[in-house]
Amino acid sequence: MEKTALKTLLAEMTIDEKIGQLMQVNTNIFVATKAEITGPLSKMGIEEERLKYIGSTLNFHGAAEMIQVQKEHLEKDPHKIPMLFMMDVIHGFRTIYPIPLGLGCSFDPELVKECSRMAAKEAAAGGVQVTFTPMVDYVRDARWGRVMETCGEDPYLNGVMGAAQVKAFQGDDLADKESLATCVKHFAAYGGAEAGKDYNTVELSERLLRECYLPAYKACIDAGTTMLMPSFNSLNGVPSTINPWLMQQVLRKEWGFSGVVITDYNAVGELIKHGITDNLKDAARMAFENGNDIEMVSTSYAQHLKELIQEGAFNEAQLDESVLRILELKNALGLFEDPYHGASVEKEQQVCLTPEHRAIARKAAEQSAVLLKNEGVLPFDEKVKKITLIGPFADEKAIKGFWACCGKDQDCVTVKEGIAALLPHAEIRVEKGCGNLWDDTDTSGIPAAVEAAKDAEIVVLCLGEPQNYSGEGNSRADLTLPGVQTELAKAVLAANQNAAVLLFNGRPLVLSELEKSAPAILDLWFPGTEGGNAAANLLFGKANPCGKVTMSFPKAVGQCPIYYNHPMTGRPKGNAEEVHHAYASNYIGCGNLPLYPFGHGLSYTTFAYESMTLDKTEMTAEDTITVSITVANTGSCTGKETVQLYLRDLYASAVPPIQKLIAFEKIELAPGEKKTVTFKVCEPMLRFWNGACEFISEPGDFNLFVGYADHPAITERFTLK
Ligand code: NOJ
Repeated sequence: MEKTALKTLLAEMTIDEKIGQLMQVNTNIFVATKAEITGPLSKMGIEEERLKYIGSTLNFHGAAEMIQVQKEHLEKDPHKIPMLFMMDVIHGFRTIYPIPLGLGCSFDPELVKECSRMAAKEAAAGGVQVTFTPMVDYVRDARWGRVMETCGEDPYLNGVMGAAQVKAFQGDDLADKESLATCVKHFAAYGGAEAGKDYNTVELSERLLRECYLPAYKACIDAGTTMLMPSFNSLNGVPSTINPWLMQQVLRKEWGFSGVVITDYNAVGELIKHGITDNLKDAARMAFENGNDIEMVSTSYAQHLKELIQEGAFNEAQLDESVLRILELKNALGLFEDPYHGASVEKEQQVCLTPEHRAIARKAAEQSAVLLKNEGVLPFDEKVKKITLIGPFADEKAIKGFWACCGKDQDCVTVKEGIAALLPHAEIRVEKGCGNLWDDTDTSGIPAAVEAAKDAEIVVLCLGEPQNYSGEGNSRADLTLPGVQTELAKAVLAANQNAAVLLFNGRPLVLSELEKSAPAILDLWFPGTEGGNAAANLLFGKANPCGKVTMSFPKAVGQCPIYYNHPMTGRPKGNAEEVHHAYASNYIGCGNLPLYPFGHGLSYTTFAYESMTLDKTEMTAEDTITVSITVANTGSCTGKETVQLYLRDLYASAVPPIQKLIAFEKIELAPGEKKTVTFKVCEPMLRFWNGACEFISEPGDFNLFVGYADHPAITERFTLK
C-alpha cells in the first residue's frame, strides 16, 4: 500500500478504531469470548464492541489459531485492518537453540544470525509477525533470572549480538514471508535490578547508564529494529514506561527512534502497584504522553484515551501519529496484501523441526558450550564400553530453557539418548542420584550412584538447576547447585576420577566446591532441542568446545554484582599488576576475582599468542592504529579460538574500567597452523562518558591487550596525542 493510501485509511477511521490499533490483548480473549462473552472482557474493563478494532495480539498457538483469529477479525473490522500477531521468539520457535546467554558464549554473530533466520522461518510459518527480541539488557548480577536472555556483562558484545539478531530476523525486507519484525527490549536497565531481584528498582547514574547500559539498545536501533519495549522497572525513581528522560529525551529526540513502542505486559496497569497513581486514567495519560504506542494487555487506553483527548490532554493528531506508525509497520510486513504473512498449517509442519534445523541447533549447542575446566580427561575415548551417567540431567528432556516458545520437552534429545546414538556399542547405566530442586534434601540415591561410578570406565555427572529457576520472575539468592547435587558429585568423584561434569544452567553458578574435585567441567547452559547430541559430540571429541564465558562465575554469591570491566578503586587488590595495600578493596577469603572470568574458555587443543604488533604507537584523533595478532594452534586437533582485544585507558578524568573489550574475531586453526588477525583501533573506540556526561576521548596513554579478562597474553601501549 502507498503511504498516501495509509493516510487516507487513517482519515477514514473513527477515534474508537484508532484507539483499537493501540490495544494489544492475549489471543485467548478471541478464543474465549466465543464461549463466554462477558467474562474475560468485563474483567479487563472493555466492552465486546471494542474487540473488533483491536490492532494486535500476543501469545497464540501456531498457524491454525492465528489464521482462524485473523480471518474472524477481518470479517468484523470495519476497515479490514489486519491484526499484528506477536510472540516471544527468543531462542527458537519450535526448534530450540541454546539460551541467549549460552549462544553469546559462541562469540559468533554469524551463528547468531543463522539461528535467528531459522527461528524467523519457523515462526513466520507458524503465524508470528513480530518477535519480542532481542533482549539486550546489560547484566552484572547472576542472581537475576533473566540473565539467561542476555549475552552477559559486556556492552559491546551485547550490541553486536543484538544487532545480528535484528538484521537476521528482519532480513532485507519485512514483507518477505520468512522475516519477522523485531522489538528490542527492555528499555532501559532492567538488568540493573537491585540485588538481582526481578522487577526491582534500578538506581543508576546517567554516566553509568550511558557507558554500559544504553549502548546495546542503541546498536539494535541502528541495526533497524522496528519496535522497542520499555522495561518494567523504575529507573531513578520513575518507571521506564513513563520516564520522560528515557522515552522522550533519549529514545525519540537524541536517538531519533521513529518505530513503534509497545509497553511491557500490563506495565501501564502496574503504575498503580508501583505507587505512581491510584487510577488507570492517569496511567493512560502518562503512558501515552511518553510515546508508548501500543499498550500490552492492560486496557487504560481503551478505557480512557478518548476521554483524555476530548478533555484536551492530547489532540487527535498525536493519536494519529501513533496509529500511523502501527499502520506503517503492518504495511511494511505486507499485511494488507497477505494478512497471514505466508503462514499456513502445512508450511508450519514442513519447516519446523526439520533435520536441517536440528543440525543448526546442534551446531549452536556445540559452539555455545564452555569448557570451564579440563585436567586432560576430556575428550573421552569413544571406544569406551562402560559409561555411567549420574545426576538429575542424565536422562532429562527439560533442557530447552525458559522462553522456549513452541518448543516441547519431548522434542529434546537427552544426554543418555545422545550418547547412545553416538556410541551404540557402549553399555550406558543411569543413576539419577538426587533431585535438582533447592529444597531437595534426599541423599538416599547417592550410595547407588557411587557404586555405579566404581563400576564404570567413565562417569558423566549431569548437574544443574531446573529450567524454570532462570527466566522471568526467577531470581535466586543462592547460586550453588540446588539440593544435594554438590554432595552427590563429591561422593561420585571420590569413587571415580575418570569423570566430567556437564552443567545445565541459566546463569553463572557458584561452583567453588565442585571445582575442587571435578577433573573437567563443561557448561552446556540450556542447550535446546539437540542438547544431548551436542553433549555426546563434545564429550567424545566429535566437536571441540570453543565457547567463552560472557558473564563472570562468582566464587561466592557475596561477590555479586561481579563483572570484568569494573572501574579501578584507589586501593586495588587482586589483579597481578596492581600495587597491594594493607587496606585493600577485597573480600576476605575469596578475594575479588571470579572463579571463571569473562572471556575464559578452554579447548581440546591449545593456542599460543605469538605476537601482537601495532603499526604505530602514537595516534591523533584522525588516525587508525592497525593491531596484528598472530595465534598458533599448538595442540593436536583443529579448534576455534576467539581472539579478544581489550583496552585500558591508563588515566582519565572519570575513573576508567580496568579493561574493556573493544574487538573480537573467532578463527579456526588446524594443528600447527598460524593465523594473523588484524583489528583497527580509532579514536571513537577510546571515548567514554565523563563526569559531565559528555562522550569524549582524552589524550594520554592506553594499554591494549590480547587474552581474556585479567589474563593478558601480550600487552602493548600507545598514546593518543
Ligand atoms: C513480559 C516480559 O517482560 C517481556 O520480555 C515479554 O516480551 C512480554 N512479557 C510478553 O510475553
